[in-house]
Amino acid sequence: MTGSRKDDHVRLAVAQHGADGTPAHGTPSDDDHPTYPPSQFDEVHLTHHALAGTDRERVSLRTRCDVFDWRAPLYINAMTGGSTMTGDINRDLGIVARETGLPIATGSMSPYLKDPSTAGTFRGVREHNRDGFVMANVNAHATAEQARRAVGLLEADALQIHLNAVQETVMPEGDRSFGSWPAGIGRIVAGVDVPVIVKEVGFGLSGRTVSTLAGLGVRVADVAGRGGTDFARIENGRRPHADFAYLDGWGLSTPAALLDARGRGLPLLASGGVRHPLDVIRALALGAHAVGVSGGFLATLLHGGVDALVRQITRWLDHLTGLMTLLGATRPGELSECDVLVTGSLREFCTARGIDIPGTQGASR
Ligand code: FNR
Repeated sequence: MTGSRKDDHVRLAVAQHGADGTPAHGTPSDDDHPTYPPSQFDEVHLTHHALAGTDRERVSLRTRCDVFDWRAPLYINAMTGGSTMTGDINRDLGIVARETGLPIATGSMSPYLKDPSTAGTFRGVREHNRDGFVMANVNAHATAEQARRAVGLLEADALQIHLNAVQETVMPEGDRSFGSWPAGIGRIVAGVDVPVIVKEVGFGLSGRTVSTLAGLGVRVADVAGRGGTDFARIENGRRPHADFAYLDGWGLSTPAALLDARGRGLPLLASGGVRHPLDVIRALALGAHAVGVSGGFLATLLHGGVDALVRQITRWLDHLTGLMTLLGATRPGELSECDVLVTGSLREFCTARGIDIPGTQGASR
């Protein structure tokens, strides 16, 4: 049952993305000029200053906080494991992580915790990537002992706990009790000896949530916002009458979540709906330490194989260096000093939430 659900998730998530990893309605047009679907990321503008640039050789992509020291501000975010097909995907993603040097997370390890015979479908991420930064992944119901087993299986460098109340609500066979999650997270934090990262799965973490997580001893928050893979739609498609269609658009977009959550006491990661390297730069400019991609990379892997995904990530890293050169940022952290303008619905969101709007407090002209 779990295995076939994991396979369904892969199939349905990939259907939301184009062959080149862009969201589905952003597939290349006739002239092969890719177009991208609209996103709230488009409301984050980096003001162009023609003399702001620096020298490419001065730019380093390295990003650090007290939990990690990564060669680039990009990671392969949590997806899968638990079935034969998803085991092959994890093996391939492990190879891609090794070849590109990117950090990587597996999907939820609940299948392994319920059935240890599925261990091999997760282990590939580590076996093919001995020296990489690997994140295990559990839900907030996991006990501390289960969390330790998940970390142990992968010899993981950090543990992700995912918060997916929207998904569970729409999932026909989903969990319906979320009240114990904060205490459960606290127990996991106290019971594992690696840093804990808490993430959403595409509906965003608010500032209030991030403050709570900081109080629970969580070390990093991945806002994992709306705009990319949509688990409400995926689960709704698995319901007989798709009766939760009205939840389309629920949650905080990734840029909105970043704006809401910054300054709440935790280093932030950003993921959810990251379409191209400029979205990575925008997220870094809004304060993220690094940016994760799931569905888009999975689509590239399934359509083009390991080589295609390695090529895509290599191109993204090259573009990130180029864009930072253009913007005069010699390391990712300096992007937060860029001249950012927020417009449209994202600006309205900031006003309604009482958030200082970037670009309005004496920006450098
Ligand atoms: C996911 N995601 C996810 N997250 C998580 O913490 N545990 C999980 O098991 C899964 N499973 C999963 C399966 C598949 C097929 C996809 C595509 C994604 C969510 C993922 O980590 C991420 O938060 C969202 O997908 C948003 O990012 P993208 O896809 O828009 O880049």
